[in-house]
Amino acid sequence: DKGGWSSFMAKEVSEQPDAVANTLRGRVSDSGVHIPELEALGDDVLAGITRIVVVGCGTAAYAGLVAKYAIEKWAGIPVEVELSHEFRYRDPVITRETLVISISQSGETMDTLMAVKYAGDAGARTISICNTQGATIPRESDAAIYTHAGPEVAVASTKAFVAQMTALYLFGLHLARVRGTLTNDEVAVELGELEAIPAKLTTVLETGGSVRQLAHWMADTRAVLFLGRHVGFPVALEGALKLKELAYIHAEGFAAGELKHGPIALIEPGQPVFVIVPSPSRSALLHAKVVSNIQEIRARGARVIAIAEQGDAAVLPFADEVIPIPLAAPLFEPFLAVVPLQLFAMELSLAKGLDVDQPRNLAKSVTVE
Ligand code: BG6
Repeated sequence: DKGGWSSFMAKEVSEQPDAVANTLRGRVSDSGVHIPELEALGDDVLAGITRIVVVGCGTAAYAGLVAKYAIEKWAGIPVEVELSHEFRYRDPVITRETLVISISQSGETMDTLMAVKYAGDAGARTISICNTQGATIPRESDAAIYTHAGPEVAVASTKAFVAQMTALYLFGLHLARVRGTLTNDEVAVELGELEAIPAKLTTVLETGGSVRQLAHWMADTRAVLFLGRHVGFPVALEGALKLKELAYIHAEGFAAGELKHGPIALIEPGQPVFVIVPSPSRSALLHAKVVSNIQEIRARGARVIAIAEQGDAAVLPFADEVIPIPLAAPLFEPFLAVVPLQLFAMELSLAKGLDVDQPRNLAKSVTVE
């Protein structure tokens, strides 16, 4: 049931504040973060982990890439993110102290299931982040942290992505407490940021109208580039994936720092480039670097669409469009910055008359390897 929305995609994008709030519910209290599902593994086991490998496919892998920045910062433990199908068919180093976290909305993606089985057989501890109660991947794992995004029907993932990041951030804070790398007060600050996300998501969703206009202007676009730095980099990858999936447009996401090492050669007059701009107040250094990237591509004729913090005056002279997002601590920006990119892909798909819920050639859950 689309509940009055024109598509499941529109409905699910709009449900993102609830997807985050429901995934937090019951797991945050005055005494900090509490994830009962992790008791299956035990805090002593988590304290002894020396390395984390996150596996997933598509959007799920990008949620993992975002979380890598948070978990390494908070828990001081190395985190690698690998596509499930690549992990499974090489000879990854796995020990009893390796924790493999799989991310899968459906819990049935065969590539990810095989990676989890492989990791378990090799002696790793396994945790599943999953949105579907009782699915195969959580059953194959030592512990499961469920996201509570509600059923996701549209093939391209949206609300599951923000819910996956929420669950991973909760896990990172749990791990930081177990390992003693953050004080209770520090954990409380980060939890406060997380709890503020649903209301900020509601604000970002209000940019829908201006994004729709932009999509209509760009309905003939043949290629779009996305640039981001730090946690904005995986958001750029996700923005490009959404555009490929929904609007069948060639799209690439790049780390902004990589621009001068190759991608800048793609910039010609009129080339649309979305740039995810870090907060000027909270990450001044990265902000300056990304603004300088914007100047470089603008000088070569790029059409710049900046996703930037509300009131960021530095981007105004160089951007053709600015889509504002509310202020958030740097690690929390992906929750907000991804939304205009989802909306853009959806609106462009609609402007081209495509089926936004069931794009050609794709399946919601790929249960073959
Ligand atoms: C793809 C879907 O086939 O599988 C994507 O089209 C999704 O939207 C990916 O991100 C992974 O799916 P899951 O269920 O493992 O998260």
